Amino acid sequence: MYSTRPVKIAGMGYYVPPNVLTNFDLEKMVDTSDAWIQERTGIRERRLAGRGVTTSDLAKEAALACLKDADVSADQVDLIIVASASPDHLFPATACIVQHAIGARGAAAFDMEIGCTGFIYALATGAQFVASGMYKKVLVVGAECLSRLVDWSDRTTCCLFGDGAGAALLVEGEAGEGFLAFHLGADGSGGDLLSLPAGGAKMPASRETVDKGLHYIHMEGKAVFKFAVKIVDLAVTKVLEKCGRTPQDIGVLIPHQANLRIIESACARFGISKDRVMVNIDKYGNTSSASVPIAMCEAISEGRIKKGDLVVLVAFGAGLSYGSAAIIW
Ligand code: ACO
Repeated sequence: MYSTRPVKIAGMGYYVPPNVLTNFDLEKMVDTSDAWIQERTGIRERRLAGRGVTTSDLAKEAALACLKDADVSADQVDLIIVASASPDHLFPATACIVQHAIGARGAAAFDMEIGCTGFIYALATGAQFVASGMYKKVLVVGAECLSRLVDWSDRTTCCLFGDGAGAALLVEGEAGEGFLAFHLGADGSGGDLLSLPAGGAKMPASRETVDKGLHYIHMEGKAVFKFAVKIVDLAVTKVLEKCGRTPQDIGVLIPHQANLRIIESACARFGISKDRVMVNIDKYGNTSSASVPIAMCEAISEGRIKKGDLVVLVAFGAGLSYGSAAIIW
């Protein structure tokens, strides 16, 4: 951190909707199988937001759980950042909707859209506000309803994604705790590999865009997979270098939950044993910017993250984008 104030996470919370869609349910919808999905991705089931429930609703629940965990009231929050690839609207910002929904009347609010890397970018951004002294309490939320943007007749994407939200409250810490370093990056030349082509200024909604299915997630899975394996390696290496640590120092690795094979490849590369990596993709699928905070919350509640541990977060996604963070818990 390029600052004088250390920044730490004072509390976390998450929310996943109760509706479960299993691989066996998917077998009845498209030409796929539980065996294929488990073998190629590690996913067994995912959660889907119910009718009328949207990204800001999931974000609100995660935010309230986070504030409860931190023992902070909503009116004490100075800034809310929501990272999402599936915001309620192009505008207003989902963060503003959440601000109103939780009663954080004094908080500034804005969204960040950088695909599945969103939560790490939002943590890095929020941490700068605390580090600079501009704000004391920054609520960072990763929230997604990707089920609304998936073509449920496309077996190559519909089995991958799930809905959910996770949140962290950032405050000033003591020396020697909290964020040690971030590493953020992007390779915009790969933007077409993972996109939602229509509905923005370049391709506004029309009968043609609807007929051609251009309002659904488009992904070149193999190319994104190759990028992910390479970039997880780079992002973890860089963030460790920045804080003078090695892979052996990692207490718990919290990777973006996109594909079990990508996670296993990173663990093999860094020599990280299974007990030092958090995996919950089997239950939730890829919840994009919500995946890292949900996995963190579960790692904490399972007692896998202990005080003083070096926790490394890493994510990648649309953009193409990537990011990592190193934290002393
Ligand atoms: N069920 C059965 N068969 C399937 C399915 C399915 N659900 N999906 C694809 N197949 C078939 C394909 O049609 C193909 O058949 P073919 O050989 O007859 O053409 C075969 O399985 C192999 O397909 P591949 O795409 O080569 O399968 P792969 O092993 O690459 O796995 C996957 C696909 C799971 C999508 C993988 O490429 C992946 O995980 N990519 C990375 C995704 C990711 O990390 N996204 C990042 C972030 S998302 C965000 O930012 C919003």
